[in-house]
Amino acid sequence: MRREFLGSKPAPGRSLGLLRMAFLLGMACLLWGGDVLAEYGDIVINNYSDKAGMRPAIFPHWFHRIRFRCKVCHADLGFKFKAGGNEINMLKIIDGQFCGGCHNGEVAWSVENCDICHSGKPNTPTQVHGNTIQKLVK
Ligand code: HEC
Ligand code: HEC
Ligand code: HEC
Repeated sequence: MRREFLGSKPAPGRSLGLLRMAFLLGMACLLWGGDVLAEYGDIVINNYSDKAGMRPAIFPHWFHRIRFRCKVCHADLGFKFKAGGNEINMLKIIDGQFCGGCHNGEVAWSVENCDICHSGKPNTPTQVHGNTIQKLVK
């Protein structure tokens, strides 16, 4: 499947992008099955977690982007467009900032679900996860 895909003539512009995305998502599903939370495009946030003895936080960007407009997070909640660029910590989250703008038991489940966010493989550096081979969670 992979060879056929790579061997085929590139379609122009946009459709190639879509094909590539579909391919990567397909590969991701094949490699990971259904039991893990990280997939293509996820963001690993690990400025403080490892040092504090927590697994790195995983932010599934795609999952959120299909549910909310960019503006909700990047304007109203003030998330800068940079993986790891927001100095997020738990005090701020509990105070309703960043992830805590929604993960408050109203818009979405609340902070006591530590493991749903802190599900990264220990020692995974902050990054946008664009590599389908690399595995982020155990
Ligand atoms: C909605 C997602 C989310 C939930 C739920 C969550 N965290 Fe976090 N947490 C984060 C993010 C994002 C960071 C910043 C990660 C970084 O930069 O390392 C963070 C950072 C931390 C840090 C390091 C910074 C600090 O504040 O000391 C600790 C420790 C931590 N979390 C513990 C917890 C514990 C314990 C729970 C459950 C009671 C929890 N977290 C629940 C998202 C979450
Ligand atoms: C639910 C909240 C949310 C929504 C909705 C959202 N984003 Fe994000 N975005 C984030 C977070 C969180 C980060 C990572 C910030 C961090 O690590 O501190 C991020 C990071 C980014 C980055 C930087 C990635 C990098 O390469 O470092 C870009 C670009 C971006 N978002 C674009 C968008 C666009 C475009 C949309 C709408 C289609 C969107 N986002 C919707 C929360 C959101
Ligand atoms: C604009 C609102 C919003 C913000 C901001 C937000 N989330 Fe969420 N998040 C949601 C909603 C809604 C769900 C789905 C809840 C459900 O299924 O009950 C969700 C689900 C999740 C999930 C589970 C995804 C899955 O596959 O089920 C994770 C992990 C998560 N969020 C992490 C984070 C982290 C980390 C941050 C901050 C960096 C964050 N979220 C910020 C609204 C938000």
